[in-house]
Amino acid sequence: MNVLVTGGSGQLGRVLMDVTKYSEHRFIYTYFSSEACGDMVRLDITDRAAVEKVVKDHSIDVIVNCAGYTDVERAESEEDKAFKINAEAVAVLAEAAKSADAVLIHISTDYVFDGNRSEPYDEDVAPAPLSAYGRSKFAGELAVLASGVRYFIIRTSWLYSSYGRNFVKTILTKSALLPLLKVVSDQVGTPTYAGDLAEFILTLLEPGNLSKTGIYNYTNEGVCSWYDLACEVCELSGNLCEVTPCKTEEFPVKAARPHYSVLDKSKVKVTFGIGVPYWKDSLRFCLAEMTDSVSM
Ligand SMILES: NC(=O)c1ccc[n+]([C@@H]2O[C@H](COP(=O)([O-])OP(=O)(O)OC[C@H]3O[C@@H](n4cnc5c(N)ncnc54)[C@H](OP(=O)(O)O)[C@@H]3O)[C@@H](O)[C@H]2O)c1
Repeated sequence: MNVLVTGGSGQLGRVLMDVTKYSEHRFIYTYFSSEACGDMVRLDITDRAAVEKVVKDHSIDVIVNCAGYTDVERAESEEDKAFKINAEAVAVLAEAAKSADAVLIHISTDYVFDGNRSEPYDEDVAPAPLSAYGRSKFAGELAVLASGVRYFIIRTSWLYSSYGRNFVKTILTKSALLPLLKVVSDQVGTPTYAGDLAEFILTLLEPGNLSKTGIYNYTNEGVCSWYDLACEVCELSGNLCEVTPCKTEEFPVKAARPHYSVLDKSKVKVTFGIGVPYWKDSLRFCLAEMTDSVSM
């Protein structure tokens, strides 16, 4: 199959590129404003004609949309831009995929939920986003549904890897430099190692799986707060930094975040017969990749 991966220069796109290196499928990765890397194709997903051309020129069978406007804070003052990339461009990709009879695998987020529950969100709970970013991502989901394309919407959360900017890398760096870190303990969810999500995306390409379309949650297994995650990063890295818990209000931010956004993985496990790695195991694996100083 010919697989188009948008956002190849982003965190998830780069991890996907690593795990698909020896795949039997042909992958075409795209970038937009980053430095070109390898033989990636430049593509602005908001440009309908350009999207249609790439899909046609490469006889695309599957589009994996890893591109997105991902700056949750900045989206509050750039909501139009967030909607253009996270919703309007998603409609463009969905319609291009539909015209080519291709499948669209679209990545969405736990931030489509308001976080008012105290039990995991399954795929049937109605989204009620709190932030501009969350609203734009939910609008993207609706655009996929409205297009009539064969689709997978994969909701994930708290993504990290050795690439790009993410919470785990920030804590790893700061905890090596500072004696004390304050981290919020009243936002609870589940971290997701991008390598595990990338492997799941590859699973979707296996024979028989592309017909199992729908909305799926995919994060690592388990529950923690940002504070718990920071403590675990320090523990595994051996960084001697004191991490103290604090409330969300102590860090004034523009974008409201859900206080609880744990996603239920029952559907993905039953449908594809897969296990989902526990968050601490995947964190250990990723940190070992990033640094030699992890106590295994
Ligand atoms: N990061 C998280 O914690 C998290 C959590 C839940 C869900 N998600 C979702 O997971 C997906 C991947 O996230 P990520 O962390 O890998 O994102 P990322 O590292 O911020 O990468 C975003 C990608 O989007 C591309 N892009 C932006 N505007 C574009 C445009 N107009 N045309 C084409 N490409 C464009 C960027 O390309 P250039 O850099 O080349 O411009 C980059 O490759 C996103 O849909 C995000 O909403 C992320």
